[in-house]
Amino acid sequence: MHYARNPEVVIRREHFGGIAFNKANGTLIELDREACIFFEQLDGETSLQNIGKQIQDELNVNVSIPRLYDVAESLIGNGFICKGVKSYHIIAEDFPEQKDYLSAPESVHLAVTHRCNYHCTSCYVDDSVTEEMTTTEIKNLIDEMADMKVFQLAIGGGEPFLRDDLVDIVRYARLKGIVPNITTNGSLLTSEIAEQLSGHIGQIQISVNGHNRSLHESFRQTESFDNALIVMKILREQKIKFGINVLLSKDNLREIEQIISFAAKQGASTINFLRPKPSKSESNWYERARLSENDYKTVQESLKNVLGNYHIKITIDCALSFLMNSESPDDLQKHGVYGCSGARRFLSIHPDGNTYPCSFIDSYYGGNIKNGLKGVWEGFNEFRELQVTGKCGVCNISKFCAGCKAILLYETNDILSQKQGCFIKKST
Ligand SMILES: C[S@@+](CC[C@H](N)C(=O)[O-])C[C@H]1O[C@@H](n2cnc3c(N)ncnc32)[C@H](O)[C@@H]1O
Ligand code: SF4
Ligand code: SF4
Repeated sequence: MHYARNPEVVIRREHFGGIAFNKANGTLIELDREACIFFEQLDGETSLQNIGKQIQDELNVNVSIPRLYDVAESLIGNGFICKGVKSYHIIAEDFPEQKDYLSAPESVHLAVTHRCNYHCTSCYVDDSVTEEMTTTEIKNLIDEMADMKVFQLAIGGGEPFLRDDLVDIVRYARLKGIVPNITTNGSLLTSEIAEQLSGHIGQIQISVNGHNRSLHESFRQTESFDNALIVMKILREQKIKFGINVLLSKDNLREIEQIISFAAKQGASTINFLRPKPSKSESNWYERARLSENDYKTVQESLKNVLGNYHIKITIDCALSFLMNSESPDDLQKHGVYGCSGARRFLSIHPDGNTYPCSFIDSYYGGNIKNGLKGVWEGFNEFRELQVTGKCGVCNISKFCAGCKAILLYETNDILSQKQGCFIKKST
């Protein structure tokens, strides 16, 4: 029996090997060079012996066929490989030169508008940006993303459903082989729109900060809890995969298990916890909401206690990587924990096309996207060169965390500061 790559899996070569992305379920794995060639050759026809020979020819290393067989069997379980199905053959390119960032973003975070129908006191969005890219300009960006083999388009805002071309954008991205995902407050997403998105959208992320009205609405619009319940029902009915974004704060940090249980009962497939970042809407919101080192220990304990108890995937944002400090580097890699990923794995685009390393930083500018994604991605050198030194520099997980520069800039106005806001005791 020959093995084949799942036809939904796309591979992009990187200097370390490559990235395999499964468009069907949004999962991503990193491959070393041998595994990358192995994956590329899995077309359902080429035998493992011949693949072994290809690897030997290109990398000049001996590979054991039983080892290739074990790798193939282990990847069947997570949907990357099937038995006996013909898939497409990839024309291999050279491995790119070594850099400390990917050859192209893994995902592009695009705020399609900064307009919003809500007024959350937590909101970090700069509503003075009123210019918006046209549908054609966004489609041009999607074309470039496809050329550069970007895997995902993360659409956010503002409230993205205020744009009447959103379905068109989503469908175009899917047509170009890119998985489109949307983050929304859910209030404008009707059954009719959901029906038009069905089959094209990857996942919809609904923002829900608590399992009951008072918790959720403590810094969100009145009626937003009911709206979230309605939209989750619509998404269940349309069988659209959805997840929940929970913005952590002093209010909800002791309710983590109840919130996870609520999300699982609602049918969410993932729950993503976000670290609070400074608000542009109400200047002292962050001072009230931000978590202390002890609060983060509570969050870490709660997450550990519930792990495996609910049928839902639990994730954390890149600014919370330090919560994983008890994991080994191998496990961190396996769980896809990469720490600060701004301008390394993704970039953020404002509605007017201006680019930044991530949605929470506007002091490092990468140029306007209308001048080309490739050039913008190769920029950002000043931001990338920032190495968090001091206590962070000697922390054993600094490679998988690297501190949140958005928070450092706000807290100390010094990105190289030692004040990281995490609870790990370092031996300086
Ligand atoms: C700015 S909103 C845009 C999408 C949509 N309007 C919504 O609320 O879901 C994107 C995400 O940022 C989160 N968010 C809002 N304020 C934040 C803050 N100060 N720090 C971190 N995340 C925040 C929201 O909860 C939401 O999940
Ligand atoms: S967090 Fe989302 S819903 Fe709330 S004001 Fe900001 S953009 Fe609007
Ligand atoms: S600065 Fe880095 S860690 Fe912080 S939110 Fe942005 S990408 Fe994530």
